[in-house]
Order: sequence, then C-alpha cells, then structure tokens
Amino acid sequence: MFDCRALAGRLLGVSLIAGVAGLIALSATLPSMAQKEDKAGWPGPDFWHPGWMHHDRWGPRNRSPEMIARMRRHRTFMHAGAPLAYRGARSTVSMTRNVIKAGGELYSSHCASCHGDRGLGDGAAAKSVTPSPALLAHMIERPMVIDEYLLWTIFDGGKQFGTDMPAFKGTLSREQIWKIVAYMRAGFPKVDK
Ligand code: HEC
Repeated sequence: MFDCRALAGRLLGVSLIAGVAGLIALSATLPSMAQKEDKAGWPGPDFWHPGWMHHDRWGPRNRSPEMIARMRRHRTFMHAGAPLAYRGARSTVSMTRNVIKAGGELYSSHCASCHGDRGLGDGAAAKSVTPSPALLAHMIERPMVIDEYLLWTIFDGGKQFGTDMPAFKGTLSREQIWKIVAYMRAGFPKVDK
C-alpha cells in the first residue's frame, strides 16, 4: 500500500539535507567573495568605486593618507574657520564679462597646469602632485566654499596640511584671486587665448 507518511518523511529528509548543503556552500562562498574584492585592492575612498559606501571602509581608519591630507583643510575650516586675516573677506569684483575673462587668463597661467582647463583635476602636472589636484569644478558648488575659504586656501596653499597646493600670497594680489574666483563661479567657461 502507498505509504503517505513515509514519502513525506523522505521528502522532508531530502530537503533538510539540501538546505544544510546550501548553507554550507553559501558560507564558503561569501568570505571568498569578500576576499576577492579585497585582493582587487581598495585604494581608499574613491567615489567612483561601487563599494565606497560600505561603512567599514568609510571610517577614518581606512582612508588613504592622500584622502586624509585632502580632508584636513575642510575639517579645519568647518571646526575653526579661516585664520583671522581672512575672516569675513568678500570678493570685491563683480561678475562682468571682462572680470571673468581676466580671471580665466589668470587661471590658465597659474592653476590649469594642475587643476586642468575645466577644473577637473587633469592638468599636465596633475600626476606629479600629492594628493591629486582638487576637482575645483565640483568644489566650487559646495556650500562651504565661501569667498574667505577660497582666499585663505589660495593665499596660504597646502603646506600646513602636507599637500602640494602652492601658496599664491606674494604672487597674486587679492584682486587677482577674486577674479579667478569669479571665473570659477562662472563655471570655468572657455577662454579665448
Ligand atoms: C602644483 C599644482 C597646483 C597648482 C599650480 C595649483 N593647485 Fe590648487 N591644489 C593642488 C592640490 C594638490 C590640491 C589638493 C590638496 C589641498 O587641498 O591642499 C589643491 C587644492 C586646491 C583648492 C582646495 C580645494 C578644496 O577641496 O577645497 C583650491 C580652492 C585650489 N587648489 C585652487 C587653486 C587655484 C585658484 C590655483 C591657481 C591660482 C591653484 N589651485 C593652483 C595643486 C595645485
């Protein structure tokens, strides 16, 4: 006679074995997947890397020294503000066509070699500086980037934070910096040379 209970028991047994085998297989593959990713190399938070949001990676402990150097200026400004000499400084030039053009010329001769023609960090000397030159086209969109932040950054450079951003105090006047700022705020338009 057909034994319904025996069949049900057998089916249950088979599915239990399959389930356990599946779990073992899964637990064996998960760590190896993680290892594979680590072996591929994690260069530090890189916003183009699909894994950058992973929490364990985003902690300060796992940032590359370049990223830490880059963040020091931002952190200092957010916590302590600019040095007194720059505090409250505002641009003294207006965003006219001539000012933006003059700013563009200054930018091409003093900044583009590192930061690139369009502020995308891809100038000819970009690969020889540490950390890589900031992407000014993106930076300029940040709410933090007010006039005094830019004046301080461009005048004092990155020596105090261990970066290769040169100090332009002594090379450029405040007014020249404001013209460059106007050019950057205008979106790095193409300048006829
Ligand atoms: C020799 C290469 C080099 C030149 C030339 C240079 N910079 Fe930089 N700049 C850097 C590097 C590298 C960084 C990133 C490290 C840092 O923030 O100090 C940087 C950072 C900056 C920042 C800060 C960006 C941020 O994230 O807040 C600003 C603003 C800036 N540069 C503006 C300029 C301007 C304007 C000029 C021209 C007057 C200029 N730089 C010329 C290398 C350069």
